[in-house]
Amino acid sequence: MNRTRRLRKTDSIRRLVRENKLTIDDLIYPLFIEEGKDIETEIVSMPGIKRFSLDRISKELDEVVELNIPAVLLFGIPSHKDEIGAETWDDEGIIQRSIRYIKKHYPDLYVITDVCFCEYTSHGHCGVIYDNDVDNDATLQNMAKQVISHAKAGSDMVAPSAMMDGMIETIRGALDTAGFPMIPIMSYAVKYSSAFYGPFRDAADSAPTFGDRRTYQMDPSNRSEGMREAIYDDQEGADILMVKPALSYLDIVRDLKNNFEKPIACYNVSGEYAMIKAAAEKGWIDEERVMMESLLSMKRAGADIIITYFAKEVAKVLLKK
Ligand code: PBG
Repeated sequence: MNRTRRLRKTDSIRRLVRENKLTIDDLIYPLFIEEGKDIETEIVSMPGIKRFSLDRISKELDEVVELNIPAVLLFGIPSHKDEIGAETWDDEGIIQRSIRYIKKHYPDLYVITDVCFCEYTSHGHCGVIYDNDVDNDATLQNMAKQVISHAKAGSDMVAPSAMMDGMIETIRGALDTAGFPMIPIMSYAVKYSSAFYGPFRDAADSAPTFGDRRTYQMDPSNRSEGMREAIYDDQEGADILMVKPALSYLDIVRDLKNNFEKPIACYNVSGEYAMIKAAAEKGWIDEERVMMESLLSMKRAGADIIITYFAKEVAKVLLKK
């Protein structure tokens, strides 16, 4: 008889046949850095995650380095917003100063910067508005300015999340021309218009004031369109392809893994984090086990890299073992 249970008998044999493992090396930890002083605000819908001003961020960074997490992904919260998000390319902007601070004090921590506008625009959309919609090509010009400013400040990698057409080609060209040919691009290649971003928009103060993001982010119904998005970003020169959100889109993660010889990342987004935290708070699930199981499912689906608010907690669990 076929007896699959033979290889499940003891912990030792289960370890030997284990196919996928989550490691600290897989993790990127997002950080919200807010303009101002003495700020350390807990985000209500994301227990354990805070917005820090730069003068308060060091203990968070100490912990990240102590836990051996390889990289952080930076989001800035400016004190001033405008129609076009001009602070995103200000060399003295909150992100630029944060990059310089981190690279100075934590030179080995890999700094990835989110490249978008929604936290910086008065209307909360991811670019320049024209005729009630985001103007693709005008936004590309501003993205180019933004990445050059991040690169000059010392960012190790840029991660454009605006879902504008041609953004990877534009950014690659801008970085190369400005003398930064070695800075890689992690593209938010397949990013869905998702309700799972709700808590993030509170955290980053980036909810659109009119309409929604459906003219640029993808329809959750679509799978082959996701391949198309990834093909274009691959051709345009993305170094890493990301799927976002993660849990409801593991089929897309697997599609990308099967079709591209590039590292695949997924973003375990704020709503996915909040659901686990909330159920655990009620005592309805075992938080640690559900956290580990859901991140493992992303590895199994084919993710090489996971961006997650759980990074510190996962690292602690893995170090215990
Ligand atoms: C956009 C951006 C968003 C997230 C990361 N980058 C929000 C959005 O598209 O509205 C969401 C991350 C999360 O929910 O954890 N700059």
